[in-house]
Amino acid sequence: MSVDLSVDLGGIPLRNPVLGASGTFGYGLELEPFFDLRRIGGFVAKSLTLEPRHGNPPPRIAEVAAGMLNSISLENVGVDAFVSEKLPRLPEGVTVIASVFETEIDRYAEVCKRLSGVPKVAGIEVNASCPHVKSGGIEFGQDPRVLAELVRAVRGATTLPLLTKLSPNVTDIAEMARVCAGEGADGLTLINAVQALDVDLERRRPLLWNGLGGLSGPAIRPIALRMVWQCARAVDIPICGVGGIASAEDALKFLLCGARAVQVGTASYLEPRTCLDVAEGMEAWCEAHGVARVADLVGTLGSHRP
Ligand SMILES: Cc1cc2nc3c(=O)[nH]c(=O)nc-3n(C[C@H](O)[C@H](O)[C@H](O)COP(=O)(O)O)c2cc1C
Repeated sequence: MSVDLSVDLGGIPLRNPVLGASGTFGYGLELEPFFDLRRIGGFVAKSLTLEPRHGNPPPRIAEVAAGMLNSISLENVGVDAFVSEKLPRLPEGVTVIASVFETEIDRYAEVCKRLSGVPKVAGIEVNASCPHVKSGGIEFGQDPRVLAELVRAVRGATTLPLLTKLSPNVTDIAEMARVCAGEGADGLTLINAVQALDVDLERRRPLLWNGLGGLSGPAIRPIALRMVWQCARAVDIPICGVGGIASAEDALKFLLCGARAVQVGTASYLEPRTCLDVAEGMEAWCEAHGVARVADLVGTLGSHRP
């Protein structure tokens, strides 16, 4: 039986539902030596700002139980260098979603404008986990009014398919999903890393220079599954699930909870071919379970209740 793995993510056609996650896949070029990027759904590039930026000083990544902490922050080459130096070196046929990250709303919109009409950019993912300077450092994605303003502004700046990537550091994730759908986002990506802290006991300091960091990897997978499930019940726009995915089975659980596609982040550091292994594993699972179209699995999680 041949399995149809294709899905449509808010106007971005994907040959299979597996994408590399932003910040863990570089600009694609870093992973290209390991496998043919045309064999996965695509990837989301490292979040881009208007100008090139340095991130936090080290230590800015640390291994913790079942995951990692990072506080890389805004480090990136800037939108113009991405367009002129990185994208042209990628082979034709690779699906690239650009990610945008800024500290003010008009700057987000400007980055989106500069990405619009660029060949090879299939869509934009707006990373709403950045601190909003004007709101005293609260993340854009933590205040529904600020999030609404952000999505409205970027929607007005581009006609490219637009995904909003939600911060998990909120009380009611479904409310944030509804805000994005209401302002015209074509899809949602969730979740970003979970705000966390760990300690170097002997030195009596945080593990990371910045103190706080983002927790990623298998430790956050059940949180991500829960949030995908809640958002899928709240909105009709497609969802891309991310958080702790390391195998085809992990990815398929996200589809059952309502995700139409998935992203692999931290697991690519352990094994750079993980995205491809996940895509191939999904196909094998569908074949073994008589599923002709992977899209038919989306949102099919049952219930113990009669
Ligand atoms: C080192 C590192 C850097 C990241 N940088 C970004 C980023 O630039 N933009 C973004 O939206 N998410 C970024 N993320 C978050 C991931 O895309 C993903 O949402 C998160 O790590 C959860 O997925 P995972 O458990 O599979 O890693 C980063 C994650 C890590 C570990």
